[in-house]
Amino acid sequence: MSTEKFDKAKSNLPVRGFLKIDDLIIPQGEALVQAILDLKKEKNAVILAHYYQPPAIQDIADYLGDSLQLARAAKDTDADMIAFCGVHFMAEAAKILNPSKKVVLPDTQAGCSLADGCSGEGLRAMRAKHPGALIATYINCNAETKAESDIIVTSSNAETIIRSLPEDRPIIFAPDKNLGAYLMKKTGRDMILWDGTCIVHEAFSMERIAQQLAANPQAKLIAHPESEAAVLDLAHYVGSTSGLLNFVEKDDAQKFIVATEEGILHEMQKRAPHKKLIPALVFDESCNCSECFYMKRNTLEKLYLCMKYELPEILMDEELRLKALKPIEAMLELSTTIK
Ligand code: 13P
Ligand code: SF4
Repeated sequence: MSTEKFDKAKSNLPVRGFLKIDDLIIPQGEALVQAILDLKKEKNAVILAHYYQPPAIQDIADYLGDSLQLARAAKDTDADMIAFCGVHFMAEAAKILNPSKKVVLPDTQAGCSLADGCSGEGLRAMRAKHPGALIATYINCNAETKAESDIIVTSSNAETIIRSLPEDRPIIFAPDKNLGAYLMKKTGRDMILWDGTCIVHEAFSMERIAQQLAANPQAKLIAHPESEAAVLDLAHYVGSTSGLLNFVEKDDAQKFIVATEEGILHEMQKRAPHKKLIPALVFDESCNCSECFYMKRNTLEKLYLCMKYELPEILMDEELRLKALKPIEAMLELSTTIK
């Protein structure tokens, strides 16, 4: 490959999100899987993947997990390179926790509506309006937002952490208002909510899900707390990504209507091969809106490219990293009982 073609691809990286090198032949099928495994050995890399990733990526990962489990795996790895298959804020958290490792992700355009809708500046303004308040922020946010937070939470530890915060301090919760409202109901703590939502979880239709339940009277509805209150009120079980996986595995029911990102069905079906899993329906009958298109930007080809050329790489200003690390460490300390 000519350096000219590579340089062109590199300069397009900020806009494109991945290295698209003209005329480069990328192995396909089994050869592509083998090439990724070879790169893993050659570079002493570990592949971390979120449950919402495309099945082919989930199947090749060394470690599959939710955002808390992946943050821990990134912190603890002794590999030289972390190939992070998830969205940008997750890869950024890996870099914050383990700065001496090279963190690459298949596509930097794998964003998140929650992270994109919240900023450090916005949180600073909220803090000024509510002096004395603690800021608890969902991990689905960028490093600048984390740096303005007192503590980070994930869907699996949020309830435990909110309960542990001092009763005499008001709490600002950002950026997911649905998760925030759910936590207020569960814990009885009043919180000031940032007005953000997940475009995937807010797309579920209560009316269409009610029809699914009527058509499948034996099925249980399970939902992620990023879903709207009307869906959560209807659900037999509300839980984090890991919580939903465990519930399906252990519960006696044989049929589940699943109100979260569809990628999770891949692992769910592996863990409960004889159970029937039905993706919950969204408002728009013409779209695949229960798939997170950010998560699905990652492909095996892009994973191969980012490992081979070690680009795109997550780089971070050290002062910002240290500020963002503090509330993540506070979260990890309060999450030791949570798997
Ligand atoms: P988890 O924290 O459950 O992994 O969820 C991350 C996410 O993006 C949910 O939409
Ligand atoms: Fe963000 Fe929603 Fe996608 Fe999760 S599913 S990464 S919250 S947009």
